[in-house]
Amino acid sequence: MCGIVAYIGQQEAYPILIEGLKRLEYRGYDSAGVALLNENNELNVYKAKGKVSDLEAFASSKDVSGHIGIAHTRWATHGEPNQVNAHPHVSQSGNIALIHNGIIENYLSIRKELEKRGFTFKSSTDTEVLTNLIEDVQQSEHVDLFEAVRIALNHVVGAYAIVVLEKGHPDQLIAARKGSPMVIGIGDGEYFIASDATPIVGRTQKVVYLEDEQVVKIKLGEELHIKTIQDVEAMPYVQELKMNLDSIEKAGFDHFMMKEIYEQPTIVRDTMRGRLNPEANTVRLGGIQQYEKQLLYADNIVFVACGTSWHACLVGSYLIENLAKIPVKVEYASEFRYRNPVITPHDVVIAVSQSGETADTLAAIQLAKEKGAVVLGICNVIGSSISRATDAGIYTHAGPEIGVASTKAFTSQVTVMVMLALRLAELKGSMKDEERAAFIQELDRIPEKMQWTLDHSGHVKDIAEKYKDVRNMLYLGRLQNYPVALEGALKLKEISYIHAEGYPAAEMKHGPIALIDKDMPVVFIATNHSTYEKVISNIQEVKARNGKIIAIISQKDVLARKMADYVIEIPETECLYSPLLALAYHIAVMRGCNVDQPRNLAKSVTVE
Ligand code: M6R
Repeated sequence: MCGIVAYIGQQEAYPILIEGLKRLEYRGYDSAGVALLNENNELNVYKAKGKVSDLEAFASSKDVSGHIGIAHTRWATHGEPNQVNAHPHVSQSGNIALIHNGIIENYLSIRKELEKRGFTFKSSTDTEVLTNLIEDVQQSEHVDLFEAVRIALNHVVGAYAIVVLEKGHPDQLIAARKGSPMVIGIGDGEYFIASDATPIVGRTQKVVYLEDEQVVKIKLGEELHIKTIQDVEAMPYVQELKMNLDSIEKAGFDHFMMKEIYEQPTIVRDTMRGRLNPEANTVRLGGIQQYEKQLLYADNIVFVACGTSWHACLVGSYLIENLAKIPVKVEYASEFRYRNPVITPHDVVIAVSQSGETADTLAAIQLAKEKGAVVLGICNVIGSSISRATDAGIYTHAGPEIGVASTKAFTSQVTVMVMLALRLAELKGSMKDEERAAFIQELDRIPEKMQWTLDHSGHVKDIAEKYKDVRNMLYLGRLQNYPVALEGALKLKEISYIHAEGYPAAEMKHGPIALIDKDMPVVFIATNHSTYEKVISNIQEVKARNGKIIAIISQKDVLARKMADYVIEIPETECLYSPLLALAYHIAVMRGCNVDQPRNLAKSVTVE
């Protein structure tokens, strides 16, 4: 939620900040703002409701000069998305400007205290409260801004990534984080600060990921000065940024979502690289090697995740139980954290997250640790909070996913799940060697089959045209196709705002069948596996009630093909996710929806 970006150096800050905000816009896009200190020590703050382009239009005739600035794109938590509530917020004296990603939970009590001390507030945000709290500490304790931020943060409950700029100090920014991400890029005589590395890519490769509860003084001509909020000095750990510019641009596609759908064959290869060895028929997952025994002998493997990542976990549970015969539970992180689950040191908890910043998943990790379990991660974003909070993990290597609706990240998570199941099966001896070898060979062929599916999915657009105006849609599948049905339905509702539900196909007759009539399209995932005949019966049940059938079928299918109104063919394998993505994508485009930035959503959900 919310993207923050800041710059200090020799260049004009404004263009760097605007470009940075555009790259971070996937994190929130209901309002945006910028604060710049010009050469006359004037603090210019511009804010606009809407997108970064609205901010640009608003600031087009204003003074945007200055070599130091902070900027923000917002996903509202406190107060409606309007100009007053947009960041940066400025302190009562007008000396301090601050941007914030996160939530200050005790802001109301702090606000009351500050009001008693004469502060007044223009907005209804927690961020303005924090800005004035810092100013109050600075004035009453007679300390510099670095110290004031540190002291103030000791009074705060909640999550924050903040950057603070002060009039009269054109060579310095103060930043801090807890629970919300922050990365600092170190250039040649300049610094870049951002919520993630995307605004920094192409500018410098030297980065420092700030740790929780650290405050940093970023001053030109000096090394980074990092302290904890408890006043303990810390050394900056400088790392090399591996991301490149191509990975964060649209590469000729109309939307990031489509680009990311087409990246799937490549990212599956990337996810398997160095792990899957089809010559030796082995899988090696270096990141979790030292925890393999715990996984093997775990009472339960417990997956915790949210949204799409939760669907990938469900696929993982089917595979691990089926192939490796280890009991698996799948939990919504948001429920797990509050329902007092029975977790013991004999369980292994695996947190799955694309962004690595999801607040509920982080809280679930914390709880699992308190209960003594080993906690592993399956994460896409390197250096993210979840990757650092877990004992060990597996990176999915899907590259930056900019479209808010998750696509290739799910594919890469499922790829990891298959490899994990195969590795555990190998260790456990629960599969015959030739059976496991066949599985590994098939996994190795998935990228080409995915490519075939993408190359032959042009007609999905015609199906989308046919159904773009429906109000409801049902997605049905069995076994590991059931989570895929859930995911297909989630994609459709997320980006096209059509109500859609996913069910295990056999559950249809326990309720949803009442919805079936001539206006209800049902997407069946009817590929050729053990429950195929049963799915065919379900198709018949829909047909008998005049429902419209869109079936994802294997190339050699005969039965489902005859019954369906439309079919989408895939090769004889399980790479069936792409057609569902393409269907949701085309329907959303035809309905004029913003595919990459659907309403009310944000890419990384860093609040509960
Ligand atoms: O970054 P995470 O995988 O932890 O995010 C979890 C969900 O917020 C996310 O998958 C969400 O459901 C996506 N918008 C789905 O497209």
